[in-house]
Amino acid sequence: MRFSSLYTVLALGALKAAATPTRPELAPRATPTVYLCGDSTMARNGANDGDTDGWGQYFGTYSTVSVVNKAIGGRSARSYWNEGRFADVANLVKSGDIVVIEFGHNDGGSPESNDNGRSDCPGAGTETCISDATGETVYTFVFYVIQAAKLMTAKGATVVLSSQTPNNLWETGSFSSSAPRFVGYQLTAQKALGSGVSFVDHFQAVSNAYKKLGNSGTNALYPNDHTHTSPQGANLSAQAFTQAIHTQMNGTTSLYNYIISNPPTVY
Ligand SMILES: *[C@@H]1O[C@H](CO)[C@@H](O)[C@H](O)[C@H]1NC(C)=O
Ligand SMILES: *[C@@H]1O[C@H](CO)[C@@H](O)[C@H](O)[C@H]1NC(C)=O
Repeated sequence: MRFSSLYTVLALGALKAAATPTRPELAPRATPTVYLCGDSTMARNGANDGDTDGWGQYFGTYSTVSVVNKAIGGRSARSYWNEGRFADVANLVKSGDIVVIEFGHNDGGSPESNDNGRSDCPGAGTETCISDATGETVYTFVFYVIQAAKLMTAKGATVVLSSQTPNNLWETGSFSSSAPRFVGYQLTAQKALGSGVSFVDHFQAVSNAYKKLGNSGTNALYPNDHTHTSPQGANLSAQAFTQAIHTQMNGTTSLYNYIISNPPTVY
């Protein structure tokens, strides 16, 4: 694991000082680049099955600046961290850039029972688990997100913590929207980080759009399973995200000034 020593340093630092903002005050760049970190629901080509797509590229349509989609299918906050992918993004980031972090779909399960390398330790704080597969110490979702955000803000970037997209909320034929715990965990991480890090409830925005779209329209967006959408569904997720940024649904984010002036209204 090429990232282990920095990881240990950061892990210890964050345990001690999770609530202490460390971002230096830096003037925003005139033309920031937006980097997207996430899983298959955000990644180009979605689940790589020829039918589905992630929302990341579609967001580029609604942004006025360059969007670089670094999302990779199958990743959780933990595995994106452990594979050094947050570090790779941090190496590209320049002061004033914006990093969107959105995970949750692959973060469930337990690292103590047939650990798949993706499950986070349950809890929203500094709890730790030991992987029954590798013996590694596993941290919580909130912990990994805080580490990642700090890596970016240390480079002078601002960070938008976005909650995961919903699964098909009309799967049973009636609308049912209960947020997975990772939605609230993103807000927990944002509150721990404070200045320079904002939160947007992408889950809620897409949920609102699905409610408006209705049963058949929403089911039509899921060709293969209840997680990965068609390109049209990815476009809708990007539109809902943009609308949430534009209306400042959960407060102002650093993306606010870098989206088109009249984004589509989807909810
Ligand atoms: C996204 O959807 C809008 C309609 O809401 C459509 O005009 C646009 O072409 C779509 N974008 C892509 C890239 O498919
Ligand atoms: C985000 O804001 C929306 C609209 O006010 C609200 O419904 C939602 O609960 C908020 N999300 C969280 C996690 O607080």
